[in-house]
Amino acid sequence: MPVTLIVGCQWGDEGKAKIVDLLAEKADLVVRYAGGANAGHTVVADGRRFAFHLVPSGILYPHVTCILGGGMVIDPVALASEIESVVEKGVDVAGRILVSEQAHVVFPYHMEMDRGAERRLGSSPIGTTGKGITPAYTDKVSRTGVRMGDLLKPRREVIELFTDKIQENNRTLKRLGLTPVPVKRTVEVLERAAAKIAPLITDTRVVLWSALDNGKTVLGEGAQGSLLDIDHGTYPYVTSSSASVGGAIAGAGIPASSIERVIGIFKAYCTRVGNGPFPTEEKGAVGRKLREIGGEYGTTTGRPRRCGWFDGVAGRTVVRLNGITEIALTKLDVLDTFDKIKICRGYRCGKRELEYFPTVLKQVERCRPQYEVLDGWRSNAGGGGGGALPRNAVAYIERLEAVVGCRVGIVSIGPDRRAVLER
Ligand code: GDP
Ligand code: IMO
Ligand code: MG
Repeated sequence: MPVTLIVGCQWGDEGKAKIVDLLAEKADLVVRYAGGANAGHTVVADGRRFAFHLVPSGILYPHVTCILGGGMVIDPVALASEIESVVEKGVDVAGRILVSEQAHVVFPYHMEMDRGAERRLGSSPIGTTGKGITPAYTDKVSRTGVRMGDLLKPRREVIELFTDKIQENNRTLKRLGLTPVPVKRTVEVLERAAAKIAPLITDTRVVLWSALDNGKTVLGEGAQGSLLDIDHGTYPYVTSSSASVGGAIAGAGIPASSIERVIGIFKAYCTRVGNGPFPTEEKGAVGRKLREIGGEYGTTTGRPRRCGWFDGVAGRTVVRLNGITEIALTKLDVLDTFDKIKICRGYRCGKRELEYFPTVLKQVERCRPQYEVLDGWRSNAGGGGGGALPRNAVAYIERLEAVVGCRVGIVSIGPDRRAVLER
C-alpha cells in the first residue's frame, strides 16, 4: 500500500497529531520524519489528552508500529522519559517503537548553545523552543554529530564517546561565555538513557521498505510546518529541518514514488509561536479572541501563540511546494462566534500583486494582505445535524479551497479524535 504524508502547512501547531491519530486507526506504520522535541503534538482520545514530542502520534493504536525516522534529532534522555510517561498512561508500547540509526543525538550542550545563541541575538531572537535543535543539526551538517546508531557500540565505547564529545563541547561553551555541562553526571544520565533506547535502534529504512513490499499502510508524520522549513520557510525565522515533504524522502527514506496522498494540515486561521514575519497577524482584539477560544498556547513551551486570519497566499505557495493532494482543515469550530471572517487572497507589495509568498524577508515585510470578508455562521460548526456544516461555514471552506487551489477533504471541529467530518 502506498504512503500518505501528513504535512504541516503553516507555522506549526496546525493539528497534525490529531489527523495522524485519526488516520492511524487504519495504518500499520507511522514514521515521524523531521525535527525533535521542539514539536508538541496533541491527541485527545476519549477525553484523555496526550502531548507527544518525539514519539509518533500513532502510538495510541496497539496495532501500529511507530518509527522515529532518520531526519530527526533525538535527546535520548527526553525520549526515554517520554516513553516512560506514555507507558504510565497505560499504553503498551512493547515492540512498537523503533528509532533510526541515522537520527542524530541531541546533547545537553546543544540546549545550552541554543539558549546562548538566542541571548546573543539580544532584542530580536528567533524565539526557539530551547531544545537544542539548531546546534544538533549544525553538528549533523558539519559531520561532527553523533548518531543513534553510535549508541549500539559496546558500553565502554559509548561512555568514551559521550565523555569526549562533552569535554570538547564544554571548551566551546566556555569560549562563548556559556555554562559548561557537568561531565560525569551528564555521561551517567545519558548512558542510562542510551541503554534503555538501544534495543529500539535499527535501520528503520529496511523496516519501512519491507512494510511497503508487504502491502502495509504507512503514514508519514511531519513536524513543524512548511513556513518553518529551513529552505522554504521565513528564513532565518525557521527551524533547522526540512519540515516540508522533502524531509520525508531525505530524512526517513520514504521512496518518492510510493507517496500517493499528501495531506496538508491547515488551521482555519493562522498562528505562529516565536518571532518572524506573519503578514495576516491580528495584534488586537481579534487575535486575542482567536487565542482564547483556540487555546493557542504552545504545547512544548506554553508560550502564547500569535494569531491572525487565514493566509491564502502562504497557503497557495505551500500547496504548490508540497504537491498537497487534499487539505485537512482544523479548528473550524474556533471561528463559530465570529460575525465576520477574513481570508487573505493576495498580497500587495508596492504596486505589484503577488501570487506566491516571497522568499526574501524584506519583501515579505512590505506585503499588505488583501482580504475578502465573509459572513460568519454564528453557530456550532458541528451542530448542523447529519454531519452537515452550517451554510456559511461551507462557503468559507469553498472560498479557501479556491484561494489555495486544493480540495478540503477533512474538517476538524473539536480537539477530540471523533470531532471530524469528511467531505
Ligand atoms: P500539531 O503540533 O500540529 O500536532 O498541533 P498541536 O497539538 O501543537 O496544537 C493543536 C491544538 O489544537 C491542540 O491543543 C489540539 O488538541 C487542538 N485541536 C486540534 N484540532 C482541533 C479542532 O478541530 N478544534 C479545536 N478546538 N481544537 C483542536
Ligand atoms: P509542531 O510540530 C510551532 C518554532 C519555534 C521558533 C522556530 C525555531 O508542534 O508543529 P527551534 O526550537 O525549532 O529551533 O525553533 O520554530 N517551532 C515551532 N512552532 N510548532 C512547532 O512544532 C515548532 N517547532 C519549532 O517557536 O519560532
Ligand atoms: Mg504543536
